Amino acid sequence: MVLVTILLTLMMGALTWRAIAHQLAPLAAAKALAAQSSAAGASQSLPVIRQDEIGDMISGFNHLLETLKRAEYEKAELETRNRQLQKAESLGLMAASIAHLFNNRLQSIRSSLDMIGEVSKSESTSKYLSIAKEATGKAAQVSKLLLVYLGQVSMEREPCSLAEICNGNLSTIRKTLPVGVTLEANLHSEEGTVIQANEAQIQLVLAGLVSNACEAMSAGGGRIKLELGVCDAQAISTLNRYPIGWKPHGQSHTFLAVEDTGGGIPEEDIDKIFDPFFSSKSVGRGLGLPVVLGLVQAHGGGITVASKLGMGSVFRVHFPVTTHSQPVARKHAEPVSRSTSRNAILMVDDDDLLLESTGPMIETLGFTLLKACDGIEALAVFHKHQAEICCVLTDLTMPRMNGMELLVALRQIDPDLPVVLASGYDQTQALSGTDAAPPQAFLYKPFGLKQLRDALDRALGVL
Ligand SMILES: Nc1ncnc2c1ncn2[C@@H]1O[C@H](COP(=O)(O)OP(=O)(O)OP(=O)(O)O)[C@@H](O)[C@H]1O
Ligand SMILES: [Mg+2]
Repeated sequence: MVLVTILLTLMMGALTWRAIAHQLAPLAAAKALAAQSSAAGASQSLPVIRQDEIGDMISGFNHLLETLKRAEYEKAELETRNRQLQKAESLGLMAASIAHLFNNRLQSIRSSLDMIGEVSKSESTSKYLSIAKEATGKAAQVSKLLLVYLGQVSMEREPCSLAEICNGNLSTIRKTLPVGVTLEANLHSEEGTVIQANEAQIQLVLAGLVSNACEAMSAGGGRIKLELGVCDAQAISTLNRYPIGWKPHGQSHTFLAVEDTGGGIPEEDIDKIFDPFFSSKSVGRGLGLPVVLGLVQAHGGGITVASKLGMGSVFRVHFPVTTHSQPVARKHAEPVSRSTSRNAILMVDDDDLLLESTGPMIETLGFTLLKACDGIEALAVFHKHQAEICCVLTDLTMPRMNGMELLVALRQIDPDLPVVLASGYDQTQALSGTDAAPPQAFLYKPFGLKQLRDALDRALGVL
């Protein structure tokens, strides 16, 4: 009897153990699969073959795995975006420095050329002088384009219909199409396509994108499609979206899509096409898209790119839809007349070469020249010679105290003092971010003798 009881107990134990082992089998399989997939570096979900607690556990495990995978993907995305942002920042810094240096050097060259013209009136000299001046002007254009790339462009904007701007340009665009390239335009004026824009700049955006589309076609030609539409901010693709870090403002956006059947862009190049001087065509080109991007950025917009090698490209430009109906008018300073007993002009610039070359132009115009290398020194010179100074001509970007800070300090001493601000930056850009009364005149570097005379006349109330 005892033996039977022992046997029965053993059998029951074995049965119970088998039942437990059967219950745990999926877990063991799950563990093996998890070990296998993690050894392979992959993280695949486990099959859920049961509808009980163990099945629930495996579902929970799968969910956790998914969350981890998503977090890993988001981390990689964030790292890529950070790298792109750093690159964009250093490119921006480089472009701004080149533009600043370039403009100062060009200003010295331009001033010297004008001074040579003043001292030598021979015909042969004047021929070469005008060639040199033209070359200076063209070089200045390149540095201006770099500032456009940085979004630092003049922005006189008003409510415009994107459809009207694009339609108004169609005939001009059609005339420039190479043989074999056709243009299909789907530019219906939809409600909501009114944007706060500068028409000429939007035309440049359209022309830049169409010109690239044309150049992407092989000799056999192809098709370009222009399309307008309205979409929600959330619907704008986050893939290949520029400028890096751009986020749509507000809800509704209107877009202009330029699609081509050209050769497409290699995936590894898409991130570079908006870099200044990146070009697959020739050295020295590659300012088209940076300028397009700068103009779009200055309108608060962004661009998305979709392209596959051999399959064509779509550039989609997104603009926030406007709610304003009237552009804001800028305030202008009243010109002030000065007595003729004050005849000195205080020129302030941190660039020695520039003081050396541009200073004599001031003397040529009949003024006495006083010089200072930054705002702090300028204030000291001003205090000493206030009775003689009729006008201050100052650079914008200087160490210690910049041109705008100097302007504010001078206004506190003499609110009516005529000031001319000279800068390589666009006037609107240079004056943005300050509540100070604007200078009486602005000079865009590089300027010549005539522009200097006009600016001084304006500041002194002669014009
Ligand atoms: N629609 C397109 N299809 C294929 N590649 C394109 C397209 N648009 C731009 N790209 C690529 O982007 C590069 C940069 O374009 P970007 O307009 O800045 O300069 P570019 O056209 O080379 O010279 P340019 O300064 O005369 O405009 C081009 O060289 C080309 O490789
Ligand atoms: Mg181009």
